[in-house]
Amino acid sequence: MSRVTIFGAGYVGVPTAAHFARTHKVTVYDPDAEKISTIRQVIENRSDELHIHEKDLIELLRENNENILLTNSLEKALKNPEFIFIAVGTPPNEKGRANLKYVCEVAEQIAEHLTNDCIVLNKSTVPPGTAYLVQDIISNGLKKDVKVAVGSCPEFLAEGTAVEDLRTPDRIVYGCDDSEALDKITHFFTYLQRRDSLCPMTTLSSELTKYAANAMLATKISFMNSLALLCDTIGANVREVQEGIGRDQRIGSKFLNASMGYGGSCFPKDTLAIAEYAVLQEVPLSIIESTIKINNHTTDYFYNKIAEDFQGNLENTNFIIWGIGFKARTDDLRESKPVEIARRLMDNGAHIHVYDTVPGALNNFKQENTKYSDRFTLHHDQYEMFSNEIDGLIIGNEHEKFRNPDMAKLTSMRHKYIYDGKNILNNYIIRYLTKEQFQYKSVGKDSVVNGRDKTKLVNFLRDKYMD
Ligand code: UGA
Repeated sequence: MSRVTIFGAGYVGVPTAAHFARTHKVTVYDPDAEKISTIRQVIENRSDELHIHEKDLIELLRENNENILLTNSLEKALKNPEFIFIAVGTPPNEKGRANLKYVCEVAEQIAEHLTNDCIVLNKSTVPPGTAYLVQDIISNGLKKDVKVAVGSCPEFLAEGTAVEDLRTPDRIVYGCDDSEALDKITHFFTYLQRRDSLCPMTTLSSELTKYAANAMLATKISFMNSLALLCDTIGANVREVQEGIGRDQRIGSKFLNASMGYGGSCFPKDTLAIAEYAVLQEVPLSIIESTIKINNHTTDYFYNKIAEDFQGNLENTNFIIWGIGFKARTDDLRESKPVEIARRLMDNGAHIHVYDTVPGALNNFKQENTKYSDRFTLHHDQYEMFSNEIDGLIIGNEHEKFRNPDMAKLTSMRHKYIYDGKNILNNYIIRYLTKEQFQYKSVGKDSVVNGRDKTKLVNFLRDKYMD
């Protein structure tokens, strides 16, 4: 059992602390006294409301309660830790560069208060080289004669599945150029995970792995999104192509769902950050620049499908959005594509009815869109807003509740448009909806409804492919 301190009680820090506390003594430090008190009340069964929404997290915190100390005192946080994990925000600036201000502040605090040898690992997503910067700040600022090794331990958990991702990770990546420290980190993780999931490496490789993983996943999605546009144009079905390539184990079936674009606090930020970093290093990563462009273009493509159905005149129209979080089961609206679509519709005169399975997502939407307060209505029931004033239903995220809608409840719509931003309705449902006079629009599978113009394609081939 090791003594660990985690800096930052956010989306990464709290689940990581709850997980580490299965086998280690964990102190969670955050300067925000309110956050600390919120977690304490939850752990002590005095409240069920955490500031982050994460499945099974409250139960895990309570289960491991004995091993968790919560504090907003730096002295307590830095009293004899063997390992320190930095899990603070690195919000992007206007150029897309990660702001290292908070990471560096933690480094200064460590230097100021640490009185024992320690390994410091950075979990925040940062440009490669940051661990060296942190090492520099700590080494220059230490008040006591102690040995500090700094490395990197990036996080790969996804929001909404954090507890499960931490329990059964594909791999634990960590890097440190000090081989003695690297062995100690390996030892630390063997208490928590299977040894074959451990992936030790050098500091820089570990830091770059984080950006590379997110950029690769985002690129898979953008690749499928660009194929989706081609599918809609020629009459192929992107879902079928996805199935066809995903079964090739060299490609893999995950993260191939075409959609109105990826969102969230990670992919948009990290793709921009690595692209910008590579430009600054004078090794531009044009593939990631394309990934970003395609993502933005796909959202335009999806929005334009809606706008074109109303000849660009959305004044006095009413739309329903099912799922406002950037993905299912989260209250996080950062870079959420459904939010972007909602705002564009509201800017053009539409009224939006928003439903999400996570009440916190609705609260956040309300708080973050005060400018539009008379342009939207929030709903806690999935069907209550259907009426003969509704012009379209937009599926915003991939929650199961939206996969198999209660058709009878949709029929009252004035204009029967369904815009499937995540391609989640299956062909059977789409055909049924079409029979009921609904018009189905998607990202790459419009052919289920529109069929395909074989003659046009034959003429195209005759014209362009027969010299
Ligand atoms: C992502 C990564 O999946 C995590 O491994 C990583 O640790 C995390 O970023 C991070 O850097 O902290 P997250 O942003 O929580 O996790 O969400 P994802 O499940 O990856 O989804 C991101 C976006 O891609 C969502 O908008 C989702 O709807 C979209 N998506 C995902 C697609 O459009 N198609 C897919 O096939 C998969």
